Amino acid sequence: MSARILDGNALARELRAGFKQRAEELAARGARPGLAVILVGDDPASRIYVRHKVNACAQAGFHSEQHVYPADVDASTVLARLARLNAAPEIHGILVQLPLPRHFDADAVLAAISPEKDVDGFRAENVGALTQGRPRFIPCTPCGVMKLLAAAGVPIEGREAVVVGRSNIVGKPMALLLMHAGATVTICHSRTRDLPAHCRRADILVAAVGKARMITGEMIKPGAAVIDVGINRLADGKLCGDVDFASASEVAAYITPVPGGVGPMTIAMLLANTLASAERAAVA
Ligand code: GUN
Repeated sequence: MSARILDGNALARELRAGFKQRAEELAARGARPGLAVILVGDDPASRIYVRHKVNACAQAGFHSEQHVYPADVDASTVLARLARLNAAPEIHGILVQLPLPRHFDADAVLAAISPEKDVDGFRAENVGALTQGRPRFIPCTPCGVMKLLAAAGVPIEGREAVVVGRSNIVGKPMALLLMHAGATVTICHSRTRDLPAHCRRADILVAAVGKARMITGEMIKPGAAVIDVGINRLADGKLCGDVDFASASEVAAYITPVPGGVGPMTIAMLLANTLASAERAAVA
């Protein structure tokens, strides 16, 4: 079998065209959507992600601003910036790019973002709302995965879903979204015994661990939908996912490529959350 490719670039492009239209309508009413991104330190991958996010805003007609600080900046400087952004009417979404340098208390920084502008959905009260099935902002990567599955018509209700990875950013919210959509969900992680056996049960397999090509074709149930959240840089500079695409695509029915699968959907969902926030502010 050769799997159908879930093309995140194509779906994200289509969604972003719709966002642009809605942003123009808001801008005509003097309420252009605005995103502020905070980047601390010089992690090369984070710099690239932030650049993609800011460029996507510009293409969709959003206002965006970047606040870049050296790795040794005082936390108080970042917290003061967040307080100003929380109060700024032209800003509807605030994102602090993770990971932060070690000397930062990331939880304290995230807690300083207004819950109404927390477009990553990382604040504890937004996580709680998502857990209870009444989300304000759905974290961008898992939200993008759900959109990819929906666009391809992959059935979820009653199916077995296995999420490999238990991070706050992807694994946990991903598992919640799949559960709310009616899947029976297993979360696997570094302490899981016999990971291949769990993976082989999955009708929907989401890999979000950050280990290059660790999920191979023999760990996949024939006909499964395989979603690869990993972005790993190989020694030769090329990018690859957590899934071994060559062997997995022989067994799966659906598979996301890396790059061009989940990554562009994460950015599209960031725009969606910022737009939704701006629309809520405009009617408030
Ligand atoms: N670092 C890796 N992924 C993300 C994300 O979705 N949001 C933020 N803020 N930082 C990240």
